[in-house]
Amino acid sequence: MNTKEIIELSEQYLMRNVGRIPIAPVRGAGARLWDADGKEYLDFVSGIAVNALGHCPQSVADAISWQAHQLMHCSNLYYIEPQAMLAKFLVDNSDLDKAFFCNSGAEANEAAIKLARKYAKLTYDEKKFEIITAKNSFHGRTLATVTATGQPKYHKGFEPLPGGFKYVPFNDLGAMEEAIGPSTCAVMLEPIQGEGGINLATFEYLEGVAKLCQEHGALLIFDEVQTGLGRTGSFLAYEHYGVEPDILTLAKALGGGFPIGAMLAKEKVAAAFKPGDHASTFGGNPLACVAALSAMQELLYGGAVENAIAVGGYFFNQLKGLATKYAYVKEVRGLGLLLGMELSIKGKPLVDACMEKGLLINCVNDYVLRFIPPLTISTEDVDQALAVLEEVMAAYKPE
Ligand SMILES: Cc1ncc(COP(=O)(O)O)c(C=O)c1O
Repeated sequence: MNTKEIIELSEQYLMRNVGRIPIAPVRGAGARLWDADGKEYLDFVSGIAVNALGHCPQSVADAISWQAHQLMHCSNLYYIEPQAMLAKFLVDNSDLDKAFFCNSGAEANEAAIKLARKYAKLTYDEKKFEIITAKNSFHGRTLATVTATGQPKYHKGFEPLPGGFKYVPFNDLGAMEEAIGPSTCAVMLEPIQGEGGINLATFEYLEGVAKLCQEHGALLIFDEVQTGLGRTGSFLAYEHYGVEPDILTLAKALGGGFPIGAMLAKEKVAAAFKPGDHASTFGGNPLACVAALSAMQELLYGGAVENAIAVGGYFFNQLKGLATKYAYVKEVRGLGLLLGMELSIKGKPLVDACMEKGLLINCVNDYVLRFIPPLTISTEDVDQALAVLEEVMAAYKPE
């Protein structure tokens, strides 16, 4: 099928629950994508931070292919070797002690919410169930995680929302101090808000929130679905801050392109889940776990994180240089290869013009261009992307 045919078929048979961009990628390798008409794109969206090793990394493809001939699926009623190995890998490379596997970021956060509530009930009392999240956050699309998401635009039309969530402005320690209390069972934050516009938590904020959590017997949950797994130049973004969470959620890059999510917790918190409390038929599926294990081994031992630091630093400085030339650029910010350029104009026309010229980027919160290439991206590819961006920015005349 060509692009037109794929779009027609999709429009006829798929629900219109997402606004789609009219290209139909059919093949990918590294940082490159090809659509059904053979047009090549340099991909700085990476499946929204999923393809951290680029498209179709060989080791992950080989691992999936091998496992597909051994055992494709097996119930969690039984013990699954790759699941245990992946849990060990994540525990060994984090400050958490136990893992639960699921299939997406929303499910990982849903599990975190349930675990936090269960822990508070067992440790304190029935009245300690409230979860505080930040305005502008993004935690997923299930009913609980969309409620946790501190952006009213995602709530609209789905009311009544589940109770027990409270929102505070991000990076405002005073507001957190006012909101937290005996009914707070957890605070859930992204160390860097991704969908909210690449907003970095300050060091003082995360340290202050951790202290408040301790004082009030509330758990600290870090949603690292987007920031985790090398994206910011450390395996986990919380390492930059030196503040450890009680619960950590992961997904996106974990499977090297294969769907998998994880919720990790400290031993004493994890112990609140008893057999029967939570489960997922596909969570921790053998195929997903071997994909994740090979992806994480390559990511940590193959130089991707070091590359994210080096190339991310170069890219950041080049974007800063570009920013000085255009009055409509307000700020360039980010860490590693999670970078944003905030504009005073809407970013969509720039995103569309870049796409025309073969560069995929996207825009969050309407005004922030987001750059999330594979962590393995080369400086040559960054230069190619910058050349397209510069051409587009130079040609753009804001009204
Ligand atoms: C920080 C964060 N949490 C949770 C999610 C939801 O993940 P998923 O789409 O895999 O459910 C996202 C997705 O963008 C995210 O960025």
